Amino acid sequence: MGEGIRLPVLDGLGRTNRIDKWWSQPVIMGSALILTLIYTFWRLFIYDVEISYKLNGSKVVSPLFSPNILEWDLFSLNQWAETAPSWINAAILIIWIPFGFRGTCYYMRRVYYRTFFASPTACWVDEPQINKSIGYKGEKMVFIINNLHRYFLYAAMVILLIKWWDVTHTMTFKNGIGISVGTLVMAFEAFLLTMYVTSCHALRHLAGGVLDRWTVGISKFRGKLFKKISILNRSHGFWFWASLTFVFLGDLWVLGVNKGILGDFAIFVI
Ligand code: FES
Repeated sequence: MGEGIRLPVLDGLGRTNRIDKWWSQPVIMGSALILTLIYTFWRLFIYDVEISYKLNGSKVVSPLFSPNILEWDLFSLNQWAETAPSWINAAILIIWIPFGFRGTCYYMRRVYYRTFFASPTACWVDEPQINKSIGYKGEKMVFIINNLHRYFLYAAMVILLIKWWDVTHTMTFKNGIGISVGTLVMAFEAFLLTMYVTSCHALRHLAGGVLDRWTVGISKFRGKLFKKISILNRSHGFWFWASLTFVFLGDLWVLGVNKGILGDFAIFVI
């Protein structure tokens, strides 16, 4: 039923009968993504100094460079770092995880299909001719990498745990345990990332997918988990942007403190 009925979309890239500002969201999102790419490139390859600072024995690491695996004793990574090429830094080594995780995110796919491929830019707005001739072929060719999302999720969960571990490093002062402004900044960044990860579609599937019914025992528990994650999942787009933005705000905080523009201090130490 309904087969063959064509919606009254005007022909031609960007043509539409819509009179609202349908273009504003794709423009803002596209610009934000380009800005994050430029900033990341600058920080990783051009200005990869001032990535952390110390405050009375505690250490605050920029979210962009956390976890700083080049400081780990594990696998003698810290020794290897001394002989590694000078352009290597911690972020370059782990960037594939956040990039892979965010790049294959279901919400992100919606964003880049709309902003960069105009496929379509918005509902009831026509797409370029090339899209019509190629057509949607599903997650194939280069997009087949999207099928790896669940594996990127597992790696992102490990990174998330280490980020919370890094938060504890901001709380370890020479004279006791406490909280500084840097702790709040890093903890907020870790919290936003936690919300982004726990609202993930793939995590929801991991929790309660595949099963036919959630009735008894572990399946009942998994069903409950599925429903809880479904509630968070409704705001997944919000958590995507909030957590992404705070990675860069956190990095600017660390840069600002290193340059003496901003000042960190212990709120309390016990
Ligand atoms: Fe967005 Fe998994 S669907 S992070």
